[in-house]
Amino acid sequence: MQHILEELEIRRERARAGGGEKRIAAQHAKGKLSARERIALLLDENSFEEYDMFVEHRCNEFGMADQKVPGDGVVTGWGTVNGRVVYVFSKDFTVFGGSLSLTHAQKIVKVQRAAARVGAPVIGIFDAGGARIQEGVDSLAGYADIFMENVLSSGVIPQISVIMGPCAGGDVYSPAMTDFIFMVKDTSYMYVTGPDVVKTVTNETLTHEELGGAKLHSSKSGVADGAFENDLEAMTQIRRLVDFLPGSNRENAPVRESYDDGERVENSLDTLIPANPNKPYDMKELILKTVDEADFFEIAPDYAKNIICGFARVEGQSVGVVANQPMALAGVLDIDASKKAARFVRFCDAFNIPIITLVDVPGFMPGAKQEVGGLIKHGAKLLFAYAEATVPKVTVITRKAYGGAYDVMSSKHLRGDVNYAWPTAEIAVMGSKGAVEIIFRAEAAGDPAKLAEKEAEYKARFANPFVAAQRGYIDDVIMPHSTRRRIAKALRSLKGKKISNPWKKHDNIPL
Ligand code: HXC
Repeated sequence: MQHILEELEIRRERARAGGGEKRIAAQHAKGKLSARERIALLLDENSFEEYDMFVEHRCNEFGMADQKVPGDGVVTGWGTVNGRVVYVFSKDFTVFGGSLSLTHAQKIVKVQRAAARVGAPVIGIFDAGGARIQEGVDSLAGYADIFMENVLSSGVIPQISVIMGPCAGGDVYSPAMTDFIFMVKDTSYMYVTGPDVVKTVTNETLTHEELGGAKLHSSKSGVADGAFENDLEAMTQIRRLVDFLPGSNRENAPVRESYDDGERVENSLDTLIPANPNKPYDMKELILKTVDEADFFEIAPDYAKNIICGFARVEGQSVGVVANQPMALAGVLDIDASKKAARFVRFCDAFNIPIITLVDVPGFMPGAKQEVGGLIKHGAKLLFAYAEATVPKVTVITRKAYGGAYDVMSSKHLRGDVNYAWPTAEIAVMGSKGAVEIIFRAEAAGDPAKLAEKEAEYKARFANPFVAAQRGYIDDVIMPHSTRRRIAKALRSLKGKKISNPWKKHDNIPL
């Protein structure tokens, strides 16, 4: 009897060893942790319940019958993050480069389905070279099964991908269908095909970093929502993110005890807006002074910096914050900003997270580059996302809300629930200078004094929040120092909000 019990421990040890000491040492030498070490950092201590550690592949091609490693290159199961259940799979690069066999895929699908059943996030940790080449079409079938679960779970449970090594093929397409992708600087890469294939097909010579590094994807392509310094920081930050999210779309946004008074006033905000309307100021200051304990988890901080998106809490309740950033491109809405914010708004709406929108926007970005790039369609994404969102929506206009961008940024007209403006707000079709140059073109042509006089007249009439307030498009004009208090009260009043859109199979958002 004793030897049967011992046999279990021997088998477990074999599975835990993965691709062996040498390969684990190679992993460490590259500055990467092993699949199991990453799980240990991600989950609460001793909370990991592993599944399928004895699963082996069933491939007999290319001598594979003699090369079996229990677990088959992926560690799967569930555990807790600050006491809340999450499902996890972590690719083991030390076993066939983390590549995906049919059985490896079946392990992942098992946790994806379990997570959807119980309503818990799935966190995928990727360090893998794509389809297991020896398995051929079985591997492709396995990927398609995972993709299918990604799609069915989209909007049902949060799906988070962390890229922690060189990832190609299916190991970038599955993350691409999840809600958030994070990378690790200098050790992680994402590409559909790696540098060798690129050289063969297009004759381009590119490094891994140039083709798919963390810097590229978190600042230029927008594929990744953030880049962390190392594996430890990545796992710590994912724990922080999970705390903001509900387990599924069946739950409300989480509420945790808050020690930050909802009635707190911030007098320094009364001088946040510079006297010169063309001077920038840091919108992050307003965010940090408004939310609980200045705790803000920013999404895609290095991409489309002209719009800020991220999670925070107000009186303990998770909220999504979307804010124009005057410090970058004057906070204009361009293609990248529209795409970034639209996706974020849709995530919040899918998962019952109220949205706070802070507006200082001079309009949509003019120019041939933007038009050729399809600004019309991309800008429409954000408009569409705000319009369809049924979660509580609270908006504060701090300064400019010009033109179509005024409509887009969670205006009253798109079912904004509570819309406030600071006394410094300018709600108009466009800035005063541009406006008078058009409407008084003939009258004031070549007469700068007349133009200046008309500009002052236009400004006095329209560059304020009161025209909109007179029409009820703004619910109240509030003092900057009371922004937190007014937002907290608005959110309290919206706790019971329930509206729904007309029945449809799904909408047809301009993709
Ligand atoms: C089987 C693989 C593998 C794969 C790596 N290995 N990729 N085994 N199938 N796809 C094995 C290697 O043989 C090696 O085994 C070990 O993993 C480590 O690989 P190295 O090449 O030594 O590591 P490194 O130099 O760090 O390069 C990592 C890499 C490279 C960039 C990921 O291995 C690579 O380019 N692999 C192929 C990537 C690829 O084209 N995959 C197919 C994508 S198509 P030993 O025994 O030496 O340790 C795809 C289809 C799905 O995924 C698409 C759906 C839309």
